[in-house]
Amino acid sequence: MKGTNLNQIGITFKGCGSFVPNQNLSNEDISRIVNTSDDWIKTRTGISNRRIASFDENVSHMGYQASLKALEMADWPVESIDLIILATSTPDDLFGSAPVIQSKLKAKNAVAFDITAACSGFIFALITASQYIQSGSYKRAIVIGSDQLSSYVNWKDRGSCILFGDGAGAIAIEANQDCNNFYGFQMKTDGERGNFLNLLNENKEGSIVDNVNFRQGNFSKISMNGQEVYKFAVREVPLIIKKLIQIAEISSSEIDWLILHQANQRILDAVGERLKIDKSKILSNLKNYGNTSAATIPLLIDESVRNKKIKTNDLLVTSGFGAGLSWSSALFRWG
Ligand code: UT7
Repeated sequence: MKGTNLNQIGITFKGCGSFVPNQNLSNEDISRIVNTSDDWIKTRTGISNRRIASFDENVSHMGYQASLKALEMADWPVESIDLIILATSTPDDLFGSAPVIQSKLKAKNAVAFDITAACSGFIFALITASQYIQSGSYKRAIVIGSDQLSSYVNWKDRGSCILFGDGAGAIAIEANQDCNNFYGFQMKTDGERGNFLNLLNENKEGSIVDNVNFRQGNFSKISMNGQEVYKFAVREVPLIIKKLIQIAEISSSEIDWLILHQANQRILDAVGERLKIDKSKILSNLKNYGNTSAATIPLLIDESVRNKKIKTNDLLVTSGFGAGLSWSSALFRWG
């Protein structure tokens, strides 16, 4: 497999963790607020339940809890973390929530910052961290996906409110001189189609003094063209995965697990079909949590590692996709 030679510093996967809030919102609950049904939601999306952050839970709390578990599995002293990257589109602090997590962890030697790339965020963050490690800049990194979309869902829009939930996942990766388990990645953005999925700032115009105008306001609610996002995902995700595995010179039959951003079970099935990857290799926990944006991939990896589906040395191909529009894929071995 290409990418296994160690001309550059290798990367190994040392731990994972996740956190979901206790509050559960079922399809039956949603059918009490909009005109829908459990049957419709299940058939069209595969989702039955999602978790909703309570008043005392937010992105940094969830990200911190997930990171603690990843750190425990990696068995690292907290002072040894060099880098914390938080993928989120719903930070508690627009100036960055990663520093809050760094402070909660007491990871005083780590630099910490946020990345915003919606549902592609976790894979974008993982790829970013991989570059710091492979260049020799940092040795140990915690990569987190944490999102609280419930705060921005339009709970009157049945076309979108059925999809989203809250949660977090984290992965611990480190530099390795003798082994490389991170084989490659692909990333794409198409801002031309960005209006299919937005969470815009609702700025209102005003003036500070005469002749000096300004805008101020809060973020509005998620606005989505579901059909277009669906078509985009089913068309682009197989292509970006095919390109990655072709460059890495592997065949799809060598892949142990296909880990896709958990958006809609029909998207997962369609992508698997186009890639000729058997259904039994497509991991899914969408039924329980819905779409938790940047959190879906690390949350799914963590659950699958802990329930012993994903084992050491298993080959994983992952893809995040969503607002931007943006999409990505990464190929790695667990462990
Ligand atoms: O991270 C990326 C985030 N976004 C996504 O992943 C979105 C991807 N898109 C999707 O998952 C799907 O497009 C949805 C689940 C959002 C919608 O499913 P669909 O099969 O594309 O439905 P549709 O929009 O084509 O609507 C079909 C019908 C419409 O009624 P008419 O016009 O045929 O009478 C809708 O009004 O279903 C209606 N509908 C609903 N009915 C019951 C739309 N939402 C609902 C609902 N319950 N919740």
